[in-house]
Amino acid sequence: MKPVRKAVFPVAGLGTRFLPATKSIPKEMLPIVDKPLIQYAVEEALAAGIETLIFVTSRKKHAISDHFDRAFELETKLAANGKDDLLECITNIIPTNVIRADVTQLETLGLGHAVNCARGLIGDEPFAVLLADDLIKSDGPGCLQQLISQYEKSGRSTIAVQNIATEDSDQYGMIEPSSIGREVLSIIEKPKPADAPSNLAVVGRYILTPEIFPLFEQVGAGAGGEIQLTDAIALLMQQQSIEYCEFTGRRYDCGSKAGFIEATVDYALERPELRDKILLHIRDSLNR
Ligand code: G1P
Repeated sequence: MKPVRKAVFPVAGLGTRFLPATKSIPKEMLPIVDKPLIQYAVEEALAAGIETLIFVTSRKKHAISDHFDRAFELETKLAANGKDDLLECITNIIPTNVIRADVTQLETLGLGHAVNCARGLIGDEPFAVLLADDLIKSDGPGCLQQLISQYEKSGRSTIAVQNIATEDSDQYGMIEPSSIGREVLSIIEKPKPADAPSNLAVVGRYILTPEIFPLFEQVGAGAGGEIQLTDAIALLMQQQSIEYCEFTGRRYDCGSKAGFIEATVDYALERPELRDKILLHIRDSLNR
C-alpha cells in the first residue's frame, strides 16, 4: 500500500458568505485570533506526515502563496528589533523539505472540479483533501492523522464524518453507514432532511485513492449546479469499498459566520494572555 504523502487544499471558492471581507482575499486567509484558517489546515497536514502541499487556487489567491513565502523585509525588521518570537512565527511555517505547489482552477466549477485540477501533481498515489473552512480542534492526534491511521489499516478511501441535526442535511454530503464495520453504503450531496440516509455528515477531510480521477470526467453538474466531489465518490464506491471515520475532535464550521465566531471565542479562551479579558467581556456583554 502506498503511503499518503500529498494533500490538496481547494482554496479557489468565492467566499461569498464573508463579503465584503473576502472581496480581495480568500476566505482561507481570514484569521482565527491571529492565524489564518489555511495555516491551521496546513499544520494539521504536516503533523500527519504530509510532504507535498497542493493549493488549488484562483487568480486572486496570491495572498495564500505569499503567506507561506519568506517575507525578507519584515524578517529583517523583526530581527533588527529583537522580536524573536514574532520572527519565529512567520518563518519556517512549512519545513524546507516539504514541497508546495499552486495549481490554478480557471473556473470555479465546484469542489470535484477543484480536486481534479490537482490530478497531474498527484499521479498514482492516495492523497488527502482538506477543506480549510472546517477547522478541527483535537487534543490528541489531528483529524487527518486519524483518517490516515484508519487508511493504513484498510487501504480504502476514508471520509471524515460527524453527527449533525437532520434539519441541516442540505448543507452537507450525507452518508449511509453500514450497520457493521465502517463502510459507506451510499453518499449524497446536500439532500433534503427527508432524503438524508442518516445523521452522519461529511466533514472536510478525505483520503482518496487515485482511481477517483477518471471518474470526474463522468460527473456532471450536481447539487448547486457544481461538479461535486461527493458525486465522484459515489461513482468510486461502485468500484471499491469506502470507509467513514467518526473522528475525535471538535469541528468549527468556519464557512459560516456563527461557526467562525465560535472558533474565535474558543481559540481566544485557550490563550493565557487573552482568556481573562475575553471572559470578562463575555460576562459584561451578557449582563448588558
Ligand atoms: C463541501 C462538500 C460537502 C461537505 C462539506 C463539509 O460542501 O461538498 O459534501 O459536507 O464541504 O464542510 P461546502 O461546504 O463546500 O458547500
